[in-house]
Amino acid sequence: MAGSSVAVLLVTDAPSGASFPVARWPAIARVEPLSELGKIDLSPFSAILVDADLSSSSTIDRLKKSLLALERNIPRYFLVTEGRRVEMVQANVLGAHATETRPLTAEGLQRLLTSTLREPLDELPDTAVTVVAQAASKALGSAFEALRADTTLDSAAMAAASNDIVDSVGAGGLGQWLDTVRAHHHGTYQHCLLVTGVLTNFAQKVGMSGADISKLTTAGLLHDIGKATIPVAILEKPGKLTPEEFAEIARHPVEGFDYLTAHANLGPDILAAVRSHHEYLDGSGYPDGLMGSQIGDLTRIVTICDIYGALSERRAYKPAMSPPEALAILEDMCTAGKLETALVRALREAVEAR
Ligand SMILES: [Fe+2]
Ligand SMILES: [Fe+2]
Repeated sequence: MAGSSVAVLLVTDAPSGASFPVARWPAIARVEPLSELGKIDLSPFSAILVDADLSSSSTIDRLKKSLLALERNIPRYFLVTEGRRVEMVQANVLGAHATETRPLTAEGLQRLLTSTLREPLDELPDTAVTVVAQAASKALGSAFEALRADTTLDSAAMAAASNDIVDSVGAGGLGQWLDTVRAHHHGTYQHCLLVTGVLTNFAQKVGMSGADISKLTTAGLLHDIGKATIPVAILEKPGKLTPEEFAEIARHPVEGFDYLTAHANLGPDILAAVRSHHEYLDGSGYPDGLMGSQIGDLTRIVTICDIYGALSERRAYKPAMSPPEALAILEDMCTAGKLETALVRALREAVEAR
């Protein structure tokens, strides 16, 4: 399921090398002593797995230095000892995307490779915006978990997150929301939170009703929930996707739609937005190749704000695109017949308004 493109670099402080049967696990492409991390060219690898003593302060120092020096935000997994909370905390501080307890099993490795991002426990300044963003990120995490476990969506938690975002973006403006999210969140959650803020601001600035503002905000939070089923190594891949990897990612609108249809109580327009936010007016999108009037208004708005949010993402290897550059790309897509010109113009006004 993780695909043949997964290549994990295992770094270990064990003197005799790996403590598990790496030779039988093709996903582990190379094993190196911890001391080499920072000197290794990471471009062939899709993730790092750290097997080291996370209760040793010299190990933590070394890991901090070398992981901070990495030029791209490659997913990093950590092995921890069962019942040792300090190791779990250290792993999170070091930006763990996921952890497994020792000894690592084949199933454990598989879980790591298919896990979605967890938020690191960074020390966040306790401002209103960071608190709202952190709570929304937690609600997203629970929603992603609920999809994976095939259990009911906690709609009260989603509604609370969405109300707080409406207040926060309304009071502090879009710029402050985007800066806060880019500073403290990464990967899929960063993306969802950025898109949500862009949608909320859009709805507020064009003067929508409270009910519609809240609908668009909720659609933003949930639009990519189907990504909970996609391996993080593919979601986070910095380079161009292979056709097989693209096919994996392209499953997410239907995965999200099916889950929310079965396990949440949402209106048909939110469900349509989740399913169809990658459709284009000229019929060139996915998953259904819808055209023009087959795509509803709410979906069209989510599509435009989704692209704007994606272009505004900050990654370790890619700075955020400026608003004028992102808007120029959207305008080119209007010219190409993919997006609705009036909506992109409205987005420009919403983004540029103070
Ligand atoms: Fe999407
Ligand atoms: Fe998206």
